[in-house]
Amino acid sequence: MNILITGVAGFIGYHLAKSCIKDGHNIIGIDNINDYYDQKLKFARLKKLGINSSFSSEFNKEVISNKYNNWLKFYRTSIEDKETLEYIFKSNKVDVVCNLAAQVGVRYSLINPGQYIQSNVVGFVNICEMCKQFGIKKFIYASSSSVYGDATTIPFSEDNFLNKPISLYAATKLSNELIAYTYSHLYKFETIGLRFFTVYGPWGRPDMALFLFTKAILENETINVFNNGELYRDFTYIDDIIEGLKKTVYNQLTKKNKSRVYNIGRGKKIKLLNFISLLEDELSIKANKNFQPKQPGDVYQTYACCKKLNDDYGYLPNTDIKKGVKKFINWYKKFYEII
Ligand SMILES: NC(=O)c1ccc[n+]([C@@H]2O[C@H](COP(=O)([O-])OP(=O)(O)OC[C@H]3O[C@@H](n4cnc5c(N)ncnc54)[C@H](O)[C@@H]3O)[C@@H](O)[C@H]2O)c1
Repeated sequence: MNILITGVAGFIGYHLAKSCIKDGHNIIGIDNINDYYDQKLKFARLKKLGINSSFSSEFNKEVISNKYNNWLKFYRTSIEDKETLEYIFKSNKVDVVCNLAAQVGVRYSLINPGQYIQSNVVGFVNICEMCKQFGIKKFIYASSSSVYGDATTIPFSEDNFLNKPISLYAATKLSNELIAYTYSHLYKFETIGLRFFTVYGPWGRPDMALFLFTKAILENETINVFNNGELYRDFTYIDDIIEGLKKTVYNQLTKKNKSRVYNIGRGKKIKLLNFISLLEDELSIKANKNFQPKQPGDVYQTYACCKKLNDDYGYLPNTDIKKGVKKFINWYKKFYEII
């Protein structure tokens, strides 16, 4: 199968590409390697996939690696660049599209709103247009648990009617779901939106809690604990996410409803303070905590009901948080050479 993945130098995109190549598939990868967080980490992920940074630092250049027998073709470009997208879709036979490229981060959407509209709305519509133009049958895209806003009915269910996103990031993700529905309705291709719930694990994102806390604790810096630690998150280990995501890529359902969204989480919520205690135990270091009020845009809790994804695709996340955090710490220490 030829799978096109946008955001392939990102946390989830990298893991998906690696796993699909190992399963024997070919990947057409796109990423603009933006500087929202340390680009070195993105280049290092690409290097693991066999793409050398001396190539990937050039824009609009096609680079091919076949480190794992099957190939990864990499293009450094932005999904806002429709002309280059057309060239990529013309030059490659694509069976499935996975759009993971996005301007991520809830808090940053208050600082740089324009970037969210460019990547998550303009870029997203461009990818939908490519699916329409090139007759793609299946389009999978990243949505987010943040679409639930401050919903109080837990666990969060896909049946909830949602129209109250509390950050621009969440608003762009909710709009993606509406846009995908429209394209599916008009042009009859399958669209699958996956609402990711706080994904963590090796090669994870430096702007997310586990990474920030681990770094700060190891460097004896203070960590900011928002809402006095009274926040709840459904932390989902990357391997569980990839298993679920791949099921939607590989399996064909005979459903009448061609446009669907699914929660993809662990199905357990953890209080932030307890999560920090767990991390302290694993690192055997006490954190210096700076208790802060809740940040604008942050939701109080996330907690996924994953029954729908389980019923349709047999999704069964099973990584225990303690084990997952341990794996992250091992990776972090190795990657940053901390003895
Ligand atoms: N990690 C999570 O917990 C989480 C939770 C909810 C939703 N998501 C969604 O999952 C997807 C992947 O997230 P991630 O954690 O891997 O983030 P990430 O930032 O590590 O990966 C996204 C990648 O997309 C690239 N990118 C951004 N804008 C682009 C553009 N306009 N054109 C081309 N490339 C672009 C970035 O350079 C980056 O490498 C995103 O859509 C994100 O919104 C992630």
